[in-house]
Amino acid sequence: MFAAKAIDTSHKTAFYRDLAAQLKALLDGESDSIANAANTAALIFQMVPDLNWAGFYFLASDEELVVGPFQGKPACVRIAVGKGVCGTAVQLGTSMLIRDVHDFPGHIACDADSRSELVVLLEDDEGVFGVLDLDSPLPGRFDEADQAGIETLAAIYAAASSFDN
Ligand code: SME
Repeated sequence: MFAAKAIDTSHKTAFYRDLAAQLKALLDGESDSIANAANTAALIFQMVPDLNWAGFYFLASDEELVVGPFQGKPACVRIAVGKGVCGTAVQLGTSMLIRDVHDFPGHIACDADSRSELVVLLEDDEGVFGVLDLDSPLPGRFDEADQAGIETLAAIYAAASSFDN
């Protein structure tokens, strides 16, 4: 049985290095994309402090994201590419680090408690296939170290998971 180990969160670089090792161990030997997304969301939500939502949106077409496995309150199911923080990340082809969602006019409020948000791309050989989205009730919760750490986790998830089914 996998048991997440407590990590010292005071040093973010070391924290995300440890979390990446735990995620690799958690996904080892499993390629089911939904199972891996579910466990990735659960590990992040358990281990990363001060989150109220962590989960996946997958591209169902070139125009639309659909929610995948997540932890947190029930969320918006469909987000058009170009809309919200998630759709903007896909449209621009970049991570989005929103220190205060009230300053991002297109922000889609699935949970009114969310005050800051980090969205990173999920990519494979064929390009972007979705996003990994983290929300926090604290303004300014995420910085560049969080972005780099979560981008690494997204890459571990993408490398471990197969979409050929
Ligand atoms: N806030 C996101 C929508 C997804 S929820 O945060 C879970 C956005 O603006 O795209």
